[in-house]
Amino acid sequence: MQNFKFIDLFCGIGGFHQAMESLGGECVFASDIDEDCRKTYKANYGIEPAGDITKIEAKDIPEHDVLCAGFPCQAFSKAGKRLGFEDETKGTLFFDICRIMEFHKPKYALLENVRNLASHDHGNTWKVIHDRLKKLGYNLLSEPVIFSPHYIGIPQHRERVFIMCIRNDIGNIKPFSFDTKKIPSSSIETILQNEDEIPNVQEYHISKDMVNLIDLWNKFIQSIKVDKLPGFPIWTDRLCELDPNEDLSQYPDWKQNFIRKNNELYLNNKRFINSWLKQAQKNPLFFGAKAKLEWQAGNNGTPDIWNQIFQLRPSGIRVKVNSYFPALVAIVQTSIIGSRRRFLTPRECARLQSFPDTFQYDVKPAQAYKQFGNAVNVDCAKLFANHMFNK
Ligand SMILES: C[S@@+](CC[C@H](N)C(=O)[O-])C[C@H]1O[C@@H](n2cnc3c(N)ncnc32)[C@H](O)[C@@H]1O
Repeated sequence: MQNFKFIDLFCGIGGFHQAMESLGGECVFASDIDEDCRKTYKANYGIEPAGDITKIEAKDIPEHDVLCAGFPCQAFSKAGKRLGFEDETKGTLFFDICRIMEFHKPKYALLENVRNLASHDHGNTWKVIHDRLKKLGYNLLSEPVIFSPHYIGIPQHRERVFIMCIRNDIGNIKPFSFDTKKIPSSSIETILQNEDEIPNVQEYHISKDMVNLIDLWNKFIQSIKVDKLPGFPIWTDRLCELDPNEDLSQYPDWKQNFIRKNNELYLNNKRFINSWLKQAQKNPLFFGAKAKLEWQAGNNGTPDIWNQIFQLRPSGIRVKVNSYFPALVAIVQTSIIGSRRRFLTPRECARLQSFPDTFQYDVKPAQAYKQFGNAVNVDCAKLFANHMFNK
């Protein structure tokens, strides 16, 4: 495929645009309901995306060879099937993709969605999507393909569903297989900026109290006597004696289990934990989620949070092994790089999504993080576009 025309639905900041343009495509239409995304898109590609796709008639969209869409996942009405409705997808954004495909009959369509789409509504959502695309006259694989950038050496774990469609008269989609036993190793170092390249680098540094808090947690995980660090969250409110007046049966099983395990950890390390808690409570940040720790970084060598990646989540400080980042997400839970004692920068997020360094992201970091969190990884989009075009 060369010199083809594509449209970019739910375009966001144009992950598909980057991929298709690099393969020789020309964008003839884009749409996104979000004004900030539209501004970023215009600044980078010179195209003003249209707004709400539900309000756009298919006839007003130019002819195109390829339709791209990373659409929000929504449940389809079960009543639709039961009551014999013509189209179960009505009222969902997938329906808008279908009506545009029905009108324009592009040669190809490449769709992306969250991993959950594969199992959503006990598989019904995938079945409806699959059957509807078939009915529209497209060949596609019978199972959703799940893929993550870390499968191709990009240090981000981000499993997503990719759906490749080819018009019946053109060909079939070759089966896609990937040996997950052959995942190349990746390193976060490949996407990190040097400190002197980061404008206003101090804005990304964590506070002194935060450094002190992580030092405290490090002391905790390095001092407690355990065979291996607990896989359950360490919840400091429960590092104490059990209260005989508290009826644990009022809690669900998982919570009872978790309270008992924290109590056991306390009883085995009572002296250390009592003195540690006294010290920890002096840190003004030591409350709520920051007084909980989830260690998910394995048990090799001396545990050290500063050698890993961590996030501040409502469930606690979650520490992950430093070979790849957890998926960027639209809500703000930006990862902290232990060795750099700072948050990931927007440029590093761009790199994790395989956007080129020439990409101009939103000047408001919160918007930039959100937009990269929503985007499709460019190299993954390219890989599936190539697979689809090569029939
Ligand atoms: C998962 S993101 C897709 C991101 C895109 N693939 C990228 O690479 O940046 C879904 C996008 O759909 C947009 N959206 C949601 N409802 C919409 C609608 N009714 N019309 C147009 N866009 C919509 C959201 O604003 C969001 O940017």
